[in-house]
Amino acid sequence: MRQFIVAGNWKMNTNYAEGLKLAEDIASGSMIDNVLVVLGLPATHLMGISQLIGKSASIKIAAQNCHYEKNGAYTGEISVDMVKSVGAEYVILGHSERREYFKENDELIAKKVKSVIEGGLNAIYCCGEKLPVREAGNHIKLVAKQIKQGLFHLDASDFKKVVIAYEPVWAIGTGVTASPVQAQEMHYEIRQMIAKKYGTEVAQQTSILYGGSVKPDNAKELFMQSDVDGGLVGGASLEANGFLKIVHSFS
Ligand code: 13P
Repeated sequence: MRQFIVAGNWKMNTNYAEGLKLAEDIASGSMIDNVLVVLGLPATHLMGISQLIGKSASIKIAAQNCHYEKNGAYTGEISVDMVKSVGAEYVILGHSERREYFKENDELIAKKVKSVIEGGLNAIYCCGEKLPVREAGNHIKLVAKQIKQGLFHLDASDFKKVVIAYEPVWAIGTGVTASPVQAQEMHYEIRQMIAKKYGTEVAQQTSILYGGSVKPDNAKELFMQSDVDGGLVGGASLEANGFLKIVHSFS
């Protein structure tokens, strides 16, 4: 059975004290068997919140980015080993905000994915189309290209450490969620692609999350779709009660 995941992406929100409080409030909530909670934190919060959470089976920590090189003269960057050394186990890669504002392309993200996995961490690989692409009916083609270029250099065994997040850009921070049917359609296509490249078993084991205006009142219907294995939640992950409600959408 594949892992269900509810991941929060805090983006560039909360100072350290606010972040600690939010993490504490989330960690004090009840968790559900077979649903992993991942907190995608600003780099400044990784160590403190990792210490706060400790070795939990149900809550893990993610960085929101890292560099593909092991170390060196890359001012302002953090390496896989740095992320790992403070207790994070996941790295969010290829988020549309990184693609848009920091000009990250599939080729660069593919290198980061490889480094993260080689370093023993898990990659949450984000993909998703902008509105004009969907309106032109090219969304599946575009996402297929992102998946191929960002992930298909990996071996089948690497895929154990890959989580995919389908995040249509038009749904991020807009309050406009993809319909459950739209989400399911894309997730199914992604899983088919993985099956074709790596076989059914790998495809069936890969968690594919939906992201884009996931809220407590729409999560359940989205997560009920057979190929939607959870969510990557932005705005609604910044309020503990609402986030915990999303986690509990699986129960
Ligand atoms: P929102 O949930 O705020 O739409 O953000 C989604 C997202 O970008 C998660 O990575």
